[in-house]
Amino acid sequence: MTASATAAVSSGAGEPFLKLSGLRKTYPGVVALADFSMEVRPGEVIGLVGENGAGKSTLMKILGGVVAPDRGVIEIDGVPHPTLSVAHSMAAGIAFVHQELNLFDNLSVAANVYIGREPRKFGFLKLVDDDELEKAVQPFLDRLGATFSPATPVARLSIAEQQIVEIAKALSLRSRLVILDEPTSSLPIAETEKLLEVIAGLKAHGISVIFISHRLHEVVEASDRVLVLRDGKLVGTLEGADINHDAMVRLMVGRDLKVDYVPPSKPRGGVVVSVRGLRTSTYPAHDIDLDLHAGEILGLAGLVGAGRTELARVLFGIDRPVGGGFALNGQDVHFSASSDAVAAGIFLVPEDRKGAGLVLDFPIAQNITLPNLRAYAKNGLVSRDAELARARQSRSDLDIRAADVSQRTSSLSGGNQQKVVLAKWLAMKPRVLIFDEPTRGIDVGAKAEIYRLMRELSDSGVAVLMISSDMEEVIGVSDRVAVMHEGHIQGTLERAQCSEENILRLAVGKSI
Ligand SMILES: Nc1ncnc2c1ncn2[C@@H]1O[C@H](COP(=O)(O)OP(=O)(O)OP(=O)(O)O)[C@@H](O)[C@H]1O
Ligand SMILES: [Mg+2]
Repeated sequence: MTASATAAVSSGAGEPFLKLSGLRKTYPGVVALADFSMEVRPGEVIGLVGENGAGKSTLMKILGGVVAPDRGVIEIDGVPHPTLSVAHSMAAGIAFVHQELNLFDNLSVAANVYIGREPRKFGFLKLVDDDELEKAVQPFLDRLGATFSPATPVARLSIAEQQIVEIAKALSLRSRLVILDEPTSSLPIAETEKLLEVIAGLKAHGISVIFISHRLHEVVEASDRVLVLRDGKLVGTLEGADINHDAMVRLMVGRDLKVDYVPPSKPRGGVVVSVRGLRTSTYPAHDIDLDLHAGEILGLAGLVGAGRTELARVLFGIDRPVGGGFALNGQDVHFSASSDAVAAGIFLVPEDRKGAGLVLDFPIAQNITLPNLRAYAKNGLVSRDAELARARQSRSDLDIRAADVSQRTSSLSGGNQQKVVLAKWLAMKPRVLIFDEPTRGIDVGAKAEIYRLMRELSDSGVAVLMISSDMEEVIGVSDRVAVMHEGHIQGTLERAQCSEENILRLAVGKSI
């Protein structure tokens, strides 16, 4: 190696160790990836952005050896491979951290990092040596700036900390490239900062990162280079000072796009839901008091674990309060199941789309109309035409990227599945609509459309409660923001007081 080459490696530039060229992948009726080429150098952080269905996950599945490309070459350390197997990809040092984490809750951090590769004690029973395991994992945790011990059960960690465990696992496998597919989409701001620090730490150790996210300001912060995909094609590369939010959006959607936060058209109406002294089983000693008005969008902010989802579950009849309760239009209500809530006109769009009642094997149309079949029936028979008309309307309202609404829901990209969940509830006529992280994993164009639909609903008198960890969204969309901290409402902010600083102060238990 020459002196200049050595210098290049130590400065983090180096020669590319991974080269993709001419990759193509088609599914019936869709070109998921078309003639895609890229290179990865040691210690580079590459942002990968694009609308829902643009082909980001497809590209990562090809790199992980899960999906075979129709055409193209993957070159690792100069050796070309027409396809990769999962084992190949791992051996080449490519590691994945998925949005849905794959950790075992009841095992310790150390056991998760070394799952399947545990050092054994000598002897007949070959017991796993916990001390050895913990000692082996500690340096990886140190490198990532983790403050928890390797003996901690994973169930006790926050989501950001669990992501750190996944990354520690990647390090222990001597990975050269760590791919993060939407890691931050459910993280609140404080935790997101932590993850961005971890990315910077990987880079400092010469490990490359591919960072996929719809939270564009984070991509700006983290990336050395940003690749933009549209309809499976690479439509632009931004580097250094050229990386900015608007430039990415222009390339992603092919035009300028500003998310318009539309203010309400009339003052808010009377109180629809009045929560008094409500206690959930997570925080049995803390009372929640909250009023939700007709015609308003009330944002519910707070750190992960503050009790927001628990409150939503009680309002929707999934869980019973352990104290206090709530009234609907002045009448005390006691739901014993979510069907009671639906009958009373309260709907919840849950955070977890896997458990959100999507039947993935069903066509898109049926998923949208399923909860409200009666609306599409004549003389007891469901009208296919009415059902299809509704579904096509939703598809165009929310820009669901699918060849037809008769397509199986499982063939949609992650973000497009989330749009189907939303379409399903928006097609009903709710009195109260609770959204839990409504735009998680959704691209910038569709977000704007979802905000517009939310405003239309609230202007028509619906009371909207929006749980969100996306600070831009909370501040932009909400008419008021209630901030939770450890199981109670720490404060409520009128629109004029809604700043990031005020929300964060309340979220950590301070006053403003
Ligand atoms: N198994 C499959 N069968 C049919 N079509 C598929 C399949 N998997 C993906 N597709 C299609 O390939 C295209 C690219 O999907 P991909 O999941 O790569 O998008 P993405 O960029 O990751 O989107 P998102 O931001 O929503 O996660 C989409 O049109 C999707 O519907
Ligand atoms: Mg995806």
